Amino acid sequence: MSRIQIHTKEKRFPVAPDLYGLFFEDINRAGDGGLYPEMLRNRSFEDSLLPEGCITKDGGKTFVSPTGWIEEFNGGEGMNDWVKNHPVAPTPIPAWYSENAEITLNGEDTLNKNRRVSLQTSFRPGGVIRNIGFCGVPQEKGRRYHLYAFIKADRPVTLEVSIAEGKNISACGKIKVCPGDYTRHDLELTASITTRNAELRIMCGEEAVVNFGFISLMPCDTFMGHGLRVDLVEKLRDLHPSFLRFPGGCIVEGFTKQTAMYFKNTVGPVWERPSHWLLWHYRTTNGLGFHEYLQLCEDLGISPLYVCNCGMSCQGRQPYYFTEDETKEMLEDTLAALEYARGPVSSKWGALRAKMGHAEPFPLRYLEIGNENGGPEYERRYKLVRKAVLERYPDITIIANDRGRGEILEADMVDDHYYNMPEFFAENVGIYDSYDRTKPNVFVGEFAVNQTYEGQLRAAISEAMFMVGLERNQDTVKLASYAPLLENVNFSSWYPNLIIFDNRRSYAIPTYYVWRMFGRNRGDYVVKSEEETGKIYRDFHGLPMVCGDFGMRFRNAVYNGKPVAPTRELLGKIVPEGDEYILAEDPESVFAKHPAPFHVPGFAALGEDLESREGVFEAEVFAEEGKEIGVGVLCAPKPLSFYDRMNPNPHGEWMLTNLEPLRFVIRDRKAQIVRGTIMPKPVSEQKPVELAAGRFHKLRCEVAEGFLRCYINGKFVVSTELPHYPTMASVTTVTDREVIIKAVNFANTADEIAISLDCEVESDYTLSILSGAADAENSFENPDNVHDEVVPRSGAAKEFRYTAPPLSVSVLRLRKK
Ligand code: AHR
Repeated sequence: MSRIQIHTKEKRFPVAPDLYGLFFEDINRAGDGGLYPEMLRNRSFEDSLLPEGCITKDGGKTFVSPTGWIEEFNGGEGMNDWVKNHPVAPTPIPAWYSENAEITLNGEDTLNKNRRVSLQTSFRPGGVIRNIGFCGVPQEKGRRYHLYAFIKADRPVTLEVSIAEGKNISACGKIKVCPGDYTRHDLELTASITTRNAELRIMCGEEAVVNFGFISLMPCDTFMGHGLRVDLVEKLRDLHPSFLRFPGGCIVEGFTKQTAMYFKNTVGPVWERPSHWLLWHYRTTNGLGFHEYLQLCEDLGISPLYVCNCGMSCQGRQPYYFTEDETKEMLEDTLAALEYARGPVSSKWGALRAKMGHAEPFPLRYLEIGNENGGPEYERRYKLVRKAVLERYPDITIIANDRGRGEILEADMVDDHYYNMPEFFAENVGIYDSYDRTKPNVFVGEFAVNQTYEGQLRAAISEAMFMVGLERNQDTVKLASYAPLLENVNFSSWYPNLIIFDNRRSYAIPTYYVWRMFGRNRGDYVVKSEEETGKIYRDFHGLPMVCGDFGMRFRNAVYNGKPVAPTRELLGKIVPEGDEYILAEDPESVFAKHPAPFHVPGFAALGEDLESREGVFEAEVFAEEGKEIGVGVLCAPKPLSFYDRMNPNPHGEWMLTNLEPLRFVIRDRKAQIVRGTIMPKPVSEQKPVELAAGRFHKLRCEVAEGFLRCYINGKFVVSTELPHYPTMASVTTVTDREVIIKAVNFANTADEIAISLDCEVESDYTLSILSGAADAENSFENPDNVHDEVVPRSGAAKEFRYTAPPLSVSVLRLRKK
């Protein structure tokens, strides 16, 4: 049983008005063929072009960037998995097929200077070319579709255009092409049948050479007529978001200068926008560009939050740091973007905005400089961009990626990202409770459970715990968004994603409903509340381990009275030597090949007892001057999985970062318990210890009753409570008339919560509730299996009880008397 005591009269601070928003990134083909409902894949015919500067050594299966980053390419089809699941064998010009006609890419005769190829087609009489879309071109009976194409021919020809599945023709029309330069042709097609796997066919009755410069097919009905897919935008709207962070994510960074995002490539007529290879394994034609994002924000009544590149590519993908001139060019691009959004129509970019149909400026107030960048290279570029932007737009809220090392970076906010397991989010409900309020405010720009229960209810509930923590700290946590947002199920490159779609359907994962509940129930002020609740200790993997600088020697390891030998080399190699073992560096490891800028110790697990959750581990470890030695336990829930549903680079169950070691480390005669692998977090005091170098010492860890206690040569040194999380977390906000209580029960049992208030309330109240089995999830077949419900309830009073179901989020809206 838990208790919540609510002091409605003690207002802590107003709610952050923009707290919940959206983060859109073009990943999983979320853009073309998704939110931007282009129905033809490879509409510019450029998909098979290698990203500029990259080379392939295996006939196009993969490419390698100038800095050595290797990616799956498959001739422009993208990921290996997509090719594996391809409905028909891929062709050299992705998504395009021909019968009785030759298709080739023509790099000389293109539509305009930004189009790098055209599709040159030599038709024989009755020849056909076909486009299979994004796993089919869907047709809905009675729905209208708009096709346009830029075409040139060597003689007058009539092209018969149809959308058909097998023998069933859904729609057809004719295009008459006269010889001459590229000419635009438009057709409106109305579907006469509903079908999923149709294709576009273009047939020519006579022999002719026809060049296609660009072709597009889109539904005529889009959200508010602004070109975006209705069901997807409606789902976004229903979350009640306040902002949209765009366009990424890692795609802002790219893995080369050419694969980074440039605003200038994303505005103007879409057929004139250069395409580029996105870091998430496909090419974009940039139809979903800067203007389209701003328009979406206007249509949803939300604030745009633009993420610009600051002059570097992704630091996790063999980075390229732009030269000074290249950085300046990128900065110019950012300033141009801001002028496009905010400049007067008399300015160069403001004029283009007006030409695109929007004379009024867009209210762009947030700018994030870089994505997931850090370190001195970032800090230098960040300062340059910030200064230049603030000189022109002093009111813009500047968001940094990093707080800076040494000196704190000047920023209005810093964007923190978290991808982890449910226990992490529950455990970190208080992560911002003691955040230093003199530091920049916080934007939690990306977070999601992506390890264990991903896309399922238990993950959603743990994220709700974390969001309670964000709400409790709205004086400094100003913005938050889930990531990623959208996934075309046939082109998945990341899991989970908030909304999943195919060509005609969409559904949301359970997390979506948490966001909808929190977005709909904001209140005006966060008030003081106190809670008493249970505690759950994080589960153990059940194995002890040794850890320390490479070369560490140990012997006589014993777990629960039984001798144990090393069984898993988690980082480094175990070399047996007589009755001793040496924890040695593995010359094949990534850290051996690319020395890390942080301390990398070795780790090895011992024994096979995966079941015990308490125990005593002892080992004799050889101490050496200046070297770190240690023992510990592995601290992670089972079963472990990491992107296990689809990850193209699956990590094993024994991936070290998932195991969260809790370890007793000694270096330079100072001992401490730390948590984690690289850049671990201290979780005990640091104690000076007597430890003679050049001999073995008995290190001992005891796990019992929720504590880890550590000893050297039989003498107690330090202890720490084992990682744990509360079973329930709550936050309360108020308006003049209402008290809004959000209570998240992360336990597997119901919690009867005793609620007490300092004001009288009506008995009748409204409850929004989300609960279910830990592994409950939604699917195309059962899209509403997990969702929140809003139900009337009664029984509220100054003191009352509310029973929160197991694994649940409850929002109680009480009316003040
Ligand atoms: O959301 C997916 C990716 O995760 C984003 O591109 C990046 O910012 C983060 O690493």
